[in-house]
Amino acid sequence: MIDLTNSNLAINGGPKVRKKKWFDNITTGQQEKEAAIRAINSGYLSLFEGSHTPDPPFSFSGGPEIIALEEEWSQFYGSKFSIALNSATSGLYAAIGALEIGFGDEVIVSPYTMSACALAPLIYGAIPVFADIDPNSGCLDPESISQKISMRTKAILIVHQFGFVANMDAIMDIAKKYNLKVIEDCAQAHGAKYKGKNVGTIGDIGVFSLNVNKTIQAGEGGICITNDLELSYRIKLIRNHGEAVVEKAGYKNILNIAGFNYRMTEISAAIAREQLKKLPYLNKERLSLVNHLKNLLKSYDFLEPMSGSDSNNGTQNVYYIFPVKYNKNAAGHKRNIFTEALNAEGMLFYQGYVCPLYLQPIYQKKLLFKHGYPFSAPPNKDCAQEYKQGTCPVAERLHFEEVLINEHIRLPHKISDIESIDDALKKLCCS
Ligand SMILES: Cc1ncc(COP(=O)(O)O)c(C=O)c1O
Repeated sequence: MIDLTNSNLAINGGPKVRKKKWFDNITTGQQEKEAAIRAINSGYLSLFEGSHTPDPPFSFSGGPEIIALEEEWSQFYGSKFSIALNSATSGLYAAIGALEIGFGDEVIVSPYTMSACALAPLIYGAIPVFADIDPNSGCLDPESISQKISMRTKAILIVHQFGFVANMDAIMDIAKKYNLKVIEDCAQAHGAKYKGKNVGTIGDIGVFSLNVNKTIQAGEGGICITNDLELSYRIKLIRNHGEAVVEKAGYKNILNIAGFNYRMTEISAAIAREQLKKLPYLNKERLSLVNHLKNLLKSYDFLEPMSGSDSNNGTQNVYYIFPVKYNKNAAGHKRNIFTEALNAEGMLFYQGYVCPLYLQPIYQKKLLFKHGYPFSAPPNKDCAQEYKQGTCPVAERLHFEEVLINEHIRLPHKISDIESIDDALKKLCCS
């Protein structure tokens, strides 16, 4: 039970806590600096050419840093192909495009994640159908996925949310039964494993992010992985103005493609290569902070850390952030009061994660492009387009009532930073 009598919040309204800056030698260290200079000294900031015409050193597949990053990424994850892009958003769009999903199709997506996961199908004219999430992990719940499948469903876009690994056995069983493609969004799950398998290698395409919030970073960046040669080629076409070169590709199934410019620079690729080398160490350090925090929170019955599936069977969850469920009844205060009180003690906790996506104006108004497209497009007339409140009750409950997010498990935070959370909690609970 919380008693706020002696809290900073009660006494003086509390100082406003600031987000901690965490760029340091982990992300911008000597190795990254040398890598960036190596790329600059090569004389080329990018070596992509939107054409198959050989004009060395320019190439349709990019320069040496891109090629090396893709090889090293494939080796690390055990995937046949890796394709470097300028963001995971581009990766998700390219994945939908490569799978030839479009008007008249439905894609099952999570409501409790980054907006691009639901936008990716829409950009290609397909309709996102929101399934509910598992209350412990925040990942899509296989039972809810099953309930949302229709004749129009073409794919499931799952997210290993918060770095927790989705229930891939059940999801792949559903995909097999209904002949669906699976895209794994691993933006938050670098290095996570499901029953010994690397995330991203279980479905058809895995997508990673290298933006500045991720465990490993390149300023901006994304990587798609796949074991399918033709899919890898389609993603490369989408990355690099493929409409201009598709006829020279020599793939009889690839007749047309809309290409974009999703290309990564040589400097970003060089930095990403160094970051990839650090990933096992960064995950190990992060997990030791996670375990310490989990142990400390055992003393507070109103806080329940969220968790992925069991780690004993070769499954490794990696923690993008630290989500915890708040029990208002056990605490005796509303979530917003508790959060304000913690923030006033200098501990930054956020309420909720993202508003369930279907409650955003795009879905409420069914309006993305002019004339209500793609929702109103004739081929989408019979698609499921239910975006009302209550569509995914678990996601809504977690977001509006239970979830608190903390980022003290991100390096360069230390054990002492974790202990300061405990100090603040003790003060709020025992005053
Ligand atoms: C789950 C998820 N998917 C996709 C993205 C998009 O990543 P990017 O910023 O690299 O486009 C993010 C970024 O926060 C994310 O968390």
